[in-house]
Amino acid sequence: MGPVAIDCDPGVDDAIALLWAMASPLDLRAVTVVAGNVPLAVTAANARRIVTLAGRTDVPVHAGCPRPLVERLETAAHVHGESGLDGAELPQAEIALAEDHAVDRLIALAHAHDQLTVCAVGPLTNVAMALVKDPAIAPKLARIVLMGGAVGGGNVTPSAEFNFYVDPHAAKVVFASGVPLVMLGLDVTEQVRPTPPRLDRLGAVDNAAGRAVAGMLRPYAARAADGGALHDPLAVAYLLAPELFEGRDAVVEIVAEGTCRGRSVVDVRGRSPHPPNARVVERVDADAVFERLCAALERLP
Ligand code: BDR
Ligand code: CA
Repeated sequence: MGPVAIDCDPGVDDAIALLWAMASPLDLRAVTVVAGNVPLAVTAANARRIVTLAGRTDVPVHAGCPRPLVERLETAAHVHGESGLDGAELPQAEIALAEDHAVDRLIALAHAHDQLTVCAVGPLTNVAMALVKDPAIAPKLARIVLMGGAVGGGNVTPSAEFNFYVDPHAAKVVFASGVPLVMLGLDVTEQVRPTPPRLDRLGAVDNAAGRAVAGMLRPYAARAADGGALHDPLAVAYLLAPELFEGRDAVVEIVAEGTCRGRSVVDVRGRSPHPPNARVVERVDADAVFERLCAALERLP
């Protein structure tokens, strides 16, 4: 795989996704942050601390958009805590924010490297803004592997998953962009939860990163209605081990407004006259994914 940029809103599961990516042989060129689980100033600070924890201060962190395209920002501090990473013992950040805006960094990376993969695990504001500001990047992107949406019901409203609910207009832009998309929605991410045996395995990861992840997962699992599903790490897992997943190509349309705001309508029965615009991931080998996550964390400081 070519170079990768991760766009995120840390957030407990974002932080775990970042740690996994930084422990792996991915060619990670940038972490770009967006407002989502907590406000932008907090996601930006958290990303810098996570990069420091991983000993990967070579990876620049770029701040992006402080609010969704149209809607006002709604956060998920009730799940992730006001700090976004409640329960974790984290070092002070050893890097400053990079100077350029996340949107400009994504555009520059897309031009600099044909075949950039964007792994997007927060509201899609930065990614949509990049595609709108410079549409010439669309054919240059290898793909966007994203956590968001659902084939079935949502986790914020009956219709909508959090990332798509927070910025439905951005999701609409991304799904209409023509860039190859991989969508990891709630149907697959809720298959990987921190069960007691898995937490025991995680407890055996005897380093600062392992202790931070275990510390964050406890309050996150207790607060989250879904038991603390490892949503965002699955996007990194897909980059590293796509053979652990199954899915289908389908037409996905995003509802931007109204009662079903943020809903991803997945054409599971092939009724749409249009060609598929996304690979919709539906199943995962959950035990294998969790074991690979722990093995990756063991490589960190
Ligand atoms: C998504 O919402 C956020 O709270 C998580 O970080 C994840 O990206 C799950 O719906
Ligand atoms: Ca997220």
